[in-house]
Amino acid sequence: MKHLSPGSAQAAEACARHIALTARAAVERQGRASIALSGGSTVKVLFPVLAAAALPWEHVHWFWVDERGVPPTHEQSNYRLAAELLLRPAGIPAANVHRIPAEHPPDEAARLYAEDIRRHFALGPAALPRFDLIHLGMGPDAHTASLFPGEPLIEDRTGLTAPVWVPKFNQWRVTLLPGVIVSAHAIAFLATGPDKAEALRAVLEEPYQPLLYPAQIGVHGGVEPDWFLDSGAARLLR
Ligand code: 6PG
Repeated sequence: MKHLSPGSAQAAEACARHIALTARAAVERQGRASIALSGGSTVKVLFPVLAAAALPWEHVHWFWVDERGVPPTHEQSNYRLAAELLLRPAGIPAANVHRIPAEHPPDEAARLYAEDIRRHFALGPAALPRFDLIHLGMGPDAHTASLFPGEPLIEDRTGLTAPVWVPKFNQWRVTLLPGVIVSAHAIAFLATGPDKAEALRAVLEEPYQPLLYPAQIGVHGGVEPDWFLDSGAARLLR
């Protein structure tokens, strides 16, 4: 489903309200909610709105979709951004924060994060977690998470996490894998700005070619995602 807002701030606010609503419903239904968040720039508006929501914070657990290969204090850290704009302002209990330990070497960080996910969801060795909601962004190149066009991990439907070298940024990252994304009970994409318009058109209107358009991972094979868009990103849609 597409939720169209005039501007990027309104789209981010609408996405934040949707995440809060989904988290609250999950807590009412099953006693807890498990949400995975992306990083990027649009979360700078989303996180403060989410932090101000009236949520049963002690029952909501926060995970990350991906993390840059930097310590949690680094300016590029997705965790650091969330800590500043969401975790600390909302007073989220440390036990509910499941950050990707990217201060470790990438393969170790991915392994430790997968162990944390398995423990939280009480998973068997080959099982995949079902997050109550996964929040995804999308780049102008149609990447999502840290799965960029041409990345072979886009074909992986069994793993939980992986280290991934991102040539575009000359950087290691750790990312959730597609099997986890398509297993989610809900997927919320936030994509704003005219620079996303062509990628969004391709993701939604071109045939399924996730190696070319990685964000299609979130559109095919799992639940129907909610798209939170502004007019700039949506301007090429039929
Ligand atoms: C990251 C994100 C990444 C992001 C997209 C969109 O670590 O950078 O997880 O996948 O969601 O690049 O970012 P914007 O928020 O800038 O649109």
